[in-house]
Amino acid sequence: MSVAKPLPHDAARMHVTGTARYVDDIPAPANTLHLAFGLAPIARGRITSLDLREVRQSPGVALVLEAGDLDRPADCSPSAHDEPLLSGHSVQYFGQPVFIVAADSHLSARKAARRAVFETQARDAIFTVDEALEADSRFEDGPRIWEKGDAGEAIDDSPHQVSGEIEIGGQEHFYLEGQAALAFPQEGGDMVVHASTQHPTEIQHKVADALGLPMHAVRVETRRMGGGFGGKESQGNALAVACAIVAAKTGRPAKMRYDRDDDMTITGKRHDLRIEYRAGFDDEGRLSGVEFVHLMRCGWAQDLSLPVADRAMLHSDNAYHLPAARIESHRLKTNTQSATAFRGFGGPQGMMGIERVMDEVAHRLGLDPLEVRQRNYYAEMAGGRLPPAPPDGISANPNTRARDAAQPEARDTGADLASRGAVGNVPASEAAPATSGQTTPYGMAVEDFILGEMTERLAERCDYAARRAAIAEWNAGQPLLKRGIALTPVKFGISFTLTHLNQAGALVHVYQDGSLALNHGGTEMGQGLFQKVAQVTAETFGLDAASVKITATDTGKVPNTSATAASSGSDLNGMAAKAAAETIRDRMAAYLAARYQTQGSRVSFSAGEVRIGEETIPFAEAAKLCYEGRVSLSSTGYYKTPKLNWDRIKGQGRPFFYFAHGAACSEVVIDTLTGEHRILRTDILHDCGRSLNPAIDKGQIEGGFVQGAGWLTTEELVWDDLGRLSTHAPSTYKIPACSDRPDIFNVALWDGENREDTIYRSKAVGEPPFMLGMSVFFALSDAVAACGPAYPALNAPATPEEVLAAVRRARA
Ligand code: MTE
Ligand code: MOS
Repeated sequence: MSVAKPLPHDAARMHVTGTARYVDDIPAPANTLHLAFGLAPIARGRITSLDLREVRQSPGVALVLEAGDLDRPADCSPSAHDEPLLSGHSVQYFGQPVFIVAADSHLSARKAARRAVFETQARDAIFTVDEALEADSRFEDGPRIWEKGDAGEAIDDSPHQVSGEIEIGGQEHFYLEGQAALAFPQEGGDMVVHASTQHPTEIQHKVADALGLPMHAVRVETRRMGGGFGGKESQGNALAVACAIVAAKTGRPAKMRYDRDDDMTITGKRHDLRIEYRAGFDDEGRLSGVEFVHLMRCGWAQDLSLPVADRAMLHSDNAYHLPAARIESHRLKTNTQSATAFRGFGGPQGMMGIERVMDEVAHRLGLDPLEVRQRNYYAEMAGGRLPPAPPDGISANPNTRARDAAQPEARDTGADLASRGAVGNVPASEAAPATSGQTTPYGMAVEDFILGEMTERLAERCDYAARRAAIAEWNAGQPLLKRGIALTPVKFGISFTLTHLNQAGALVHVYQDGSLALNHGGTEMGQGLFQKVAQVTAETFGLDAASVKITATDTGKVPNTSATAASSGSDLNGMAAKAAAETIRDRMAAYLAARYQTQGSRVSFSAGEVRIGEETIPFAEAAKLCYEGRVSLSSTGYYKTPKLNWDRIKGQGRPFFYFAHGAACSEVVIDTLTGEHRILRTDILHDCGRSLNPAIDKGQIEGGFVQGAGWLTTEELVWDDLGRLSTHAPSTYKIPACSDRPDIFNVALWDGENREDTIYRSKAVGEPPFMLGMSVFFALSDAVAACGPAYPALNAPATPEEVLAAVRRARA
């Protein structure tokens, strides 16, 4: 009655009426200090002298701190302890925070920060992939390499080969609410911090370290973010730590929020990269082997770059069964912002490589790219098993390749398992689980693939074949405008690849009037997590979601939480909240059964009432009876994801609990004189399992798609020769506007359930739809290909300049 309802976001009304409270809206006492950072004016080198006299004398300034003024090292890194809050003499990127100004207003702090006089000695900075390779500037000792079979040999032995490279740009998060934090000093040196963060526990940890306090002395609260998109997993640490330090030093509350330009200048973005590729294939476009080299710019500090680069490798196959694959990943250290998490966490970048290969293979063979994609899909397994091989060798399912189903290759099964070290020299036939006819390049059996059927359904619904033919005809008569269409799939792995992060806790209270309070480790950033978990909690008691009070994430209520990330917020916290609610419900049932002299099994909760044997009483009355009967009406709940086992060094195992799927078909038109484009129509079919809330999920799908399309088309980051980000404001950085969404936009949910035992058999939806934006990019490639005989080799973002360049390449 509560789960699966298309309820609006719990705060939707407050969002649109301006009454939702963000960090900057929290009433702060009059003596609050406002902070700003002074930023480095070079990308790499030394600050030989820093004159802060004018900064200190600026109106309203109360305190100025340099690195040397800090009592303890204040590290802001989520991983490698390589991110000092303030740079000290050695500068790593243009815009790196060098000093803190605390003043009586936001404006006076910012004005004062600009009055520093720097003397610097710049060194040759490392900006590009090529410069980083040349200097061997990288994280980890060398590239990470994962292999399945002998890809080089498979490619060389194939009838056809393609090779090339694609440049893929980064992306600014452009959360509507910028980074913000507010610290309130407490008695005895304790600290309370309100932060706009996806990861309150990490802020707690970093603040405790910086103040030299145990974690119990720091409490972090997050009611909501005005968007995070991965940009608030780690990039908010600096603000919270700075506020806590100033608050501790002065005994006054301290608040910091980045101005938009500062936010874009200081914080990390999506990793840009170059992918070099080589693939071998047969006359039908079936791949025999692929090699990818990922050259990723990670920026100045490690941050989350290693797991991001891993996830890019993990999505190098996207929806395709690769008989042999070699993936080499370079994590390059550059003098730029520290690239960070961004929706998809490297997955989108990894998928672009294989989608590019599909596109180019189809072009080479003169085939429909959709056909080539479908021929390379993983096979579907009904009920989690491969379908039995049909006697005539022809698959029952048109998308199931008989050779996968009937003759799993040795290197697909036994060899993979053996190299995992788990099964030693067991013969392949014994080692391979019955269902593992096909594995990913990292040795995980793909058992829940449904894209074959989803793709067929979407192609039918959007009339793909007929429109493709109509577009070809239309293009033939159009010298200046060209249309293109593409249908692309997404298969995205759900779970944190750092296995221990896959856990969550919740805290549920039932009050004696029958109202409920809910708390869990997840954070709300607009994705609707709080509403979904409230629905799950209410469902357990047979109540409406409205009877549950959603409360702010609070490290004092649920400890040791993971970042709300990897799309796993509702999977993890939904399960934890359900466990907490069930504990209370079972206690209530036991007490009421005894009181009414019936069995516990005859107590049920639905429609706001409790049925006890033959009696029915309102839930509120049941709560009151239980309270008076001295039944504990509060409980924690806990969940950890099962079945995970992953070795990131070997690149072998099961990093994901399951896969979420989606497919999108987009049609575009380009102007070959200006390079501009429009998205004419997009049709999406997306797999949310049994959706916890179809309205919210649809919002995630629409928003994710538009954000993904923006990444690959209009959103371009430009750094100048000094390493200064030129595109540091909405005036120069172009995110999609309402008018950029497809003219026709049809979004449907796939009707199916998660084959794994997730919360009400739903699937995670936060990130996967982002990658549906690839359909726009490959529709653009298709439109450009209509301009001439050569493969356009389009790079991302496909800005008007890039589209024009690709048109020239196609005509050559
Ligand atoms: N949706 C909105 N409106 N705002 C956001 O910041 N972040 C995305 C996605 N959807 C985001 C969003 C990212 S990067 C992730 S990982 C998931 O939401 C996190 O939330 P979930 O795990 O609850 O899906
Ligand atoms: Mo999302 S990039 O995992 O915060």
